[in-house]
Amino acid sequence: MEKDHQLTPFYTKLLEYAESNTICHDVPGHKLGHLKNDMIDYAGNQMYKLDANAPRGLDNLNRPTGVIKEAAELMADAFGAEKAYFLTGGTTMGILSMIMSVCRAKEKIILPRNVHKSAINALILSGAVPIFVKPYIDSVLGIANHMEYHDIETAIIENPDAQAVFVINPTYFGVTSDLKRIVDLAHEHDMMVIVDEAHGSHFPFSDQLPIGSMEAGADMGSCSLHKTVGSLTQSSILITQGPRVDHIRLRSTINMIQSTSPSSLLMASLDVARKTIYNDGPKQLPILIEMAKKTREEINQIPGLKTADETYFKTKNAYGYDQTKIIVKVSDIGITGFDVYKELFDEHHIQLELAETHLILAVLSIGTKQEDLNALVKALKIISDKYIPMELEPLLPKVKYVYPEAYTRPREAYHAPKKYVPLNQAVDEIAAESVMIYPPGIPIVIPGEVISQDILDDLDFYQRSGSVILSDTEGGYIKIIDKEYWEKWSDDDYE
Ligand SMILES: Cc1ncc(COP(=O)(O)O)c(C=O)c1O
Repeated sequence: MEKDHQLTPFYTKLLEYAESNTICHDVPGHKLGHLKNDMIDYAGNQMYKLDANAPRGLDNLNRPTGVIKEAAELMADAFGAEKAYFLTGGTTMGILSMIMSVCRAKEKIILPRNVHKSAINALILSGAVPIFVKPYIDSVLGIANHMEYHDIETAIIENPDAQAVFVINPTYFGVTSDLKRIVDLAHEHDMMVIVDEAHGSHFPFSDQLPIGSMEAGADMGSCSLHKTVGSLTQSSILITQGPRVDHIRLRSTINMIQSTSPSSLLMASLDVARKTIYNDGPKQLPILIEMAKKTREEINQIPGLKTADETYFKTKNAYGYDQTKIIVKVSDIGITGFDVYKELFDEHHIQLELAETHLILAVLSIGTKQEDLNALVKALKIISDKYIPMELEPLLPKVKYVYPEAYTRPREAYHAPKKYVPLNQAVDEIAAESVMIYPPGIPIVIPGEVISQDILDDLDFYQRSGSVILSDTEGGYIKIIDKEYWEKWSDDDYE
């Protein structure tokens, strides 16, 4: 039977509860906004009234049988999936759950090296062995991007015992691989396909966008509806289809890492975001795509600036491109993306999603207004007018793109005896922690990899360019395996 996507079962029930004037002798302690604090003063208590914990009638996310189940069924229908799980820990939680429910210790998983840190953490938690595929290196834009089909094909053929292939659809920069073909090949080899769709939640709602994981036939995907579809930050979904998914194992993994007090605000925001994108997305996304196209054309008129669009990425062996992203190469005028990112915020009150050495990235959604795009174009013109007369040297593309060699499994390295050394003494040591630039949160080195001088040079470069570097250890030190103790201790049977 066709689903009615005007319905919002969870949100409607929550609203009913919020308006019911029930006397609250349960948590949360704000008692649906019945106390005073600075945030209630600012926002009013309406949001707090919707922040209920687990009153009767509002169902249980750990084992939904009522309104959460109904809302999840509508979500699955909207995404063309058989089943959807609501997540209140972002796609970070979705990726942990997917990998941990598919790979046991020492089982292999094929994945691109430029995965989000949650995939690396899933390797530590599961004990899986990563088979990394090198992503396509775009030396013009200075980024690691999508996986190419033939590289995945090689990895699948060389590792017939791998459990799964993990694909990013799309990358942070909006580029997709040929997901359908990858799915067909992986399934032929009896491997599952699990998809990081953190940046692709809007794909199923316009045929002008790349295809989503379910349409491509993948087994599981996790989508950050909060990133591009308009739900509250941290609200994501995990969607599945087909006979390969072990729902008992998946459910128990999700419940292991899900809070027992999942936010009703987040869940309700998923319910209403699904209603909006399902009903309005097919009309509004083409308008947004047109707005983005016009904006790119205007930016291309600005001296020294150049946007990267679908045509550009297709010359870089990309399969598809999410046209709701705006990528601008700024380094030809002799300044970095980090400089422009900072200047746009400091001088023009514009917050971008991300900067890299050569580029800046704006992420648009159906919430983007034309005047906001006009403001971006105007500010970029001012920046170009300021720097072009300085005749700075264009920044050269990076020559070397290095990925560290793996020495041992991430889980083994994580549990090994460790010590701390200054970064400049870490050459040839084995990392016991991930070090990454945020955003995008893609690790430069992960536990178990050998730290080379090239890796340290990369880190130094990012540090000097003002990026935020995230790692466990601070102050110019890094956590490494203490080889002397480790050799006595390890026979790599740490399951
Ligand atoms: C490619 C990619 N995957 C996964 C994630 C994690 O998503 P979330 O922020 O919803 O936890 C991110 C977050 O930025 C990401 O960029």
